[in-house]
Amino acid sequence: MGQNILICGASRGLGFFLAKKFQKKNNKLCLLSRNIKNLKKIFYKKKEVYLVRCDLASTKSIDNAVKKIKKIFLKIDVIVNCAAVTGPVEYFHKSNITEWKKAFEIDFLNLIYLKKKINSFHVKKWRFYN
Ligand SMILES: NC(=O)c1ccc[n+]([C@@H]2O[C@H](COP(=O)([O-])OP(=O)(O)OC[C@H]3O[C@@H](n4cnc5c(N)ncnc54)[C@H](OP(=O)(O)O)[C@@H]3O)[C@@H](O)[C@H]2O)c1
Repeated sequence: MGQNILICGASRGLGFFLAKKFQKKNNKLCLLSRNIKNLKKIFYKKKEVYLVRCDLASTKSIDNAVKKIKKIFLKIDVIVNCAAVTGPVEYFHKSNITEWKKAFEIDFLNLIYLKKKINSFHVKKWRFYN
């Protein structure tokens, strides 16, 4: 039987690769990222694939996404997080602290926020690749 899988950072890279893999195995997918244009092309009219725009830098955007996720799933089996940004690539003393904070929010803190928001789902597996 297929599983209910939520993938964060599904628009490209590892998340996109996993979305295509999981879609073939009878799973019900909810794919999150800021850009869903290319996902729309690939998963056009695919049954059981739902696309939700979400900016993990914004708690307001996460709140809106969670409302949609709760309409899609009655339960979640697996959450896979591949959403990530790279912090500033330069010497620490030259780098911008605001950019570091933003990277930590997207890569870590706001994922805790997302998890707390969907805590009503008893998620069996929670995988981080970022
Ligand atoms: N690629 C690999 O083989 C591999 C292997 C092991 C681990 N990893 C790790 O997995 C993570 C992702 O790697 P990747 O190569 O797949 O990176 P990537 O190609 O840059 O993809 C990053 C994903 O994160 C999403 N994202 C970025 N900012 C976001 C935001 N503010 N809100 C929501 N989604 C956001 C992007 O979607 P949008 O821009 O559309 O929002 C995109 O789907 C990294 O931490 C990497 O170290 C990768």
